[in-house]
Amino acid sequence: MTGTDSAAAAVEFTSVSKVFRVGKQEHTALADVDLRIEKGEIFGVIGYSGAGKSTLVRLINALEKPTSGTILISGDPITGVSESRVRQLRRDIGMVFQQFNLFRSRTAAGNIEYPLKVAGWKRAERKARVAELLEFVGLSDKATSYPDQLSGGQKQRVGIARALATSPALLLADEATSALDPETTGEVLRLLKKVNRELGVTIVVITHEMDVIRSVADRVAVLAEGRIVELAYTFDVFAAPRAAPTRSFVETVLHNRPDAKELERLGAKYPGRLVTVDVDDERGVGKVLAIAARAGVNFEIVYGGVSTLQDKTFGSITLALDGTTEAVDGVIAALAQGVAPAVAAATPAAAAPAATSTTADGSENTRRTA
Ligand SMILES: Nc1ncnc2c1ncn2[C@@H]1O[C@H](COP(=O)(O)OP(=O)(O)O)[C@@H](O)[C@H]1O
Ligand SMILES: [Mg+2]
Repeated sequence: MTGTDSAAAAVEFTSVSKVFRVGKQEHTALADVDLRIEKGEIFGVIGYSGAGKSTLVRLINALEKPTSGTILISGDPITGVSESRVRQLRRDIGMVFQQFNLFRSRTAAGNIEYPLKVAGWKRAERKARVAELLEFVGLSDKATSYPDQLSGGQKQRVGIARALATSPALLLADEATSALDPETTGEVLRLLKKVNRELGVTIVVITHEMDVIRSVADRVAVLAEGRIVELAYTFDVFAAPRAAPTRSFVETVLHNRPDAKELERLGAKYPGRLVTVDVDDERGVGKVLAIAARAGVNFEIVYGGVSTLQDKTFGSITLALDGTTEAVDGVIAALAQGVAPAVAAATPAAAAPAATSTTADGSENTRRTA
């Protein structure tokens, strides 16, 4: 390990920009990025194609130099230092790729052994380390198989074992599951979690799939056009996405909020006013319904869903409220105020006043502001 400062972040970007020049054209791949990835976390970075994700990864392992700004790896600058220093720092960073990047002419064991050879390990030590790594990734029986004889998931497990060979403190996974089917994706993500929890390796997971973030990331940064538009704990991003790109990503996996077209259909089908209400551990569906019932309006749940993430509940339900204007207004006002939390130790989110907004599509929306 080269990182000596245990209090330092695993990765720290300060005002990092990266501008590519192609002929006379300038293209800003990353613009003024500030970022702290803590040691021991699984940090997700999500964005659409071209958002700047791979550029971010290539800056972390110094395959690219920033146009401006500074980058620290475990407290050590990786920018503005000599090539030999960069090589030294890079030894503490493992990398996993979308297309696995295995040597086809080498066995699984041979691929995993390769970085140990490069690092000058003795033969007996290499063999022992390779056996240990194969065991860790569950491929002891595939030691002598060639990549062409392995499934996609097995290839990626070899890729992960190879990346871990020299015990890096930081692992970068750029679209590591994007070439895999959903089931195999789950298998690889579970392995990444094991790497993080059992070996204490900090992992940066780069993806365009919100399901991947949901499965593994402790925190997530949303990149759009080279800028971080949102950075928060994964739960909070799912429960209350703020930036427009974040909302789009969340909607790809959660279908608990009706879109404009669905609202139109619901509006035609049900009498009364449509209201979409967020629910969580403090205010569950039961409490929302009790408010409607107390006010004496007729109500129907017409859309919604409740999910669990990191052991916390969140979701949203859409109600059709049918009654006098006064009664319906009363329910909406009560929902907007939120409900007193059941426990005294209120979270700031639960204690905060609510905001009510009428969305452009005409449905009313109560969302407590954090
Ligand atoms: N070497 C390069 N030369 C010129 N433009 C580049 C280079 N690498 C990346 N870009 C541009 O920077 C932007 C971000 O690219 P990239 O980081 O690969 O995005 P992502 O991984 O999110 O798809 C894209 O518009 C891409 O075309
Ligand atoms: Mg990319």
